[in-house]
Amino acid sequence: MKQKIKIALIGAGNIGGTIALLAGVKELGDVVLVDVAEGLAKGKALDLSHAAAALGSSTAYAGSTDYSAIQDADVCIVTAGVARRPGMSRDDLLSTNAEIMRSVAQGIKHYAPASFVIVVSNPLDIMAAFCQRLSGLPPEKVIGMAGVLDSARYRSFLADECGVSPSSIQALVLGGHGDEMLPLRSCTTINGAPVSLFIADARLDAIETRVRNAGAEVVALLRSGSAYYSPAASALEMAESYLKDSKKLLACSAFLRGEYGVHNLYAGVPVIIGNAGVERIVELKLTSEEQAAFSQSIRHIKELWEKVSLAC
Ligand code: LAC
Repeated sequence: MKQKIKIALIGAGNIGGTIALLAGVKELGDVVLVDVAEGLAKGKALDLSHAAAALGSSTAYAGSTDYSAIQDADVCIVTAGVARRPGMSRDDLLSTNAEIMRSVAQGIKHYAPASFVIVVSNPLDIMAAFCQRLSGLPPEKVIGMAGVLDSARYRSFLADECGVSPSSIQALVLGGHGDEMLPLRSCTTINGAPVSLFIADARLDAIETRVRNAGAEVVALLRSGSAYYSPAASALEMAESYLKDSKKLLACSAFLRGEYGVHNLYAGVPVIIGNAGVERIVELKLTSEEQAAFSQSIRHIKELWEKVSLAC
């Protein structure tokens, strides 16, 4: 009988390592890290085991270069792939990361076909779609992490602007995880009060532009690699909602079958995550300006997807 939740992290870089640490702090289950780089996953697992002892956590860690280590995982979080360097867009990673995703998807299909898969690798909406198509898992069980992160960035900037806790701010960022993502002003509130009562429109425009560029802002500052604390925390929130059947409403990249007028494409929309995976896609009424921006973002995803889908 299966006793403990198993969380598989495919990719043991900065995001994978941070998810592993946070999962241990929250004692969400045992963690296995897989990475093709010899020694990396094993070394991190060993270090994390020691951290668990220091933290008083009962989480067990293992590391491997072999996909068989993910056997029967409840959740797989995919961070494998290269990160962008200063000056690069997420789209520039397409061909390299698509090749990597090919073997990741085969590994999931073979060893963890019943898992809930959260894709973090970029370009996000395309990698989520590619992973679903190649693994053959139901679309409800494969989802991309982007909107939770973009919404967290939006909430963080708004919190600084207003001098309130980010936990008092509700926000959704929809569309693709790229320069055309859509912070949804009409749905942004501070404890229920519309954000436009607190911040003037011109200032909100500037904050929303910063949200769209926040990933690049971090990349430029770090000079090597991209953000990892916030992507890790965001992916874990999604995993937790699945494992605990919390039914949180979160902005995620999900497979659309006509919702928002979009067919057979992954894009960022509000979804409810529970123990069935994506249990519902929530359709909001967008303002005409928001609808136009959303459609523009979808066009961009579509163009990119047409480039890779032939290779599936
Ligand atoms: C970012 C990466 C994770 O936005 O896409 O930082």
